[in-house]
Amino acid sequence: MQLISRNTLAGPSRLLARPSLLLPAYRSHSSASASAPRPSHAYIPPIPSAADTQVKPAEDTRATATSPTNLSPEEKELIARIVRVDQAGELGANWIYRGQKWGSAMRGDSKTVKQVEEMWESEKHHLATMRLVQTQHSVRPTILYPVWQGMAFGLGAVTALMGREAAMACTEAVETVIGEHYDDQIRSLKPLLETKSGVAPHPSLPLLKGVLEEFRDDELEHLDTAVEEGAQKAPGHSLLSAIIGAGCRVAIKVSERV
Ligand SMILES: [Fe+2]
Ligand SMILES: [Fe+2]
Repeated sequence: MQLISRNTLAGPSRLLARPSLLLPAYRSHSSASASAPRPSHAYIPPIPSAADTQVKPAEDTRATATSPTNLSPEEKELIARIVRVDQAGELGANWIYRGQKWGSAMRGDSKTVKQVEEMWESEKHHLATMRLVQTQHSVRPTILYPVWQGMAFGLGAVTALMGREAAMACTEAVETVIGEHYDDQIRSLKPLLETKSGVAPHPSLPLLKGVLEEFRDDELEHLDTAVEEGAQKAPGHSLLSAIIGAGCRVAIKVSERV
């Protein structure tokens, strides 16, 4: 079985990862490491074609380095909620996998450690991308960052200490909720992607939709992996899934606003 069958830089998010198109604010933060290899990927991605990104090449810079100025307050708030909660969610995913790796290592389960590391790779890419998007759209990150870090690490660690199948049940439950959540967001963006009074949507918006679709598909692959690896054989699987799923839904609601 292949844990990550799609290259994590195969989708629209690689447009954001292109060094020449990094946002000025991001570039200044990362100037010291700009020439260093990306930690989570071993190669420089090829330049995407317009067909890949659904953004015309001439608009690449607009799509990745500017944000719409013609949105209503409600539309701006929608973008802010989407970006804030997704950044928080990707942070949480990274810390869940960090906890799972620690818990699995404590049990001496090197097989699960390796699988967790592989799934964690795409979460690192997701988080890095969402940080770029957050800067691009000037969205305030959630103030609950430290809370989510601690809770996510605890969730990953405890389930991994319970056993390999419980760790997979955790991933299954989280990715189910996150996959649905990305789908909801993609639907909610639809009105913003329409041409209104002859004015096409700002190119950052189709790009954002493409990134959400790409990340949703990655999360659903993690879900499939968890199920294939025995998530549903975990002791108390239904209860575990219900508790973790409910916790994720609460975290989503809170992170959209706080
Ligand atoms: Fe993710
Ligand atoms: Fe994931």
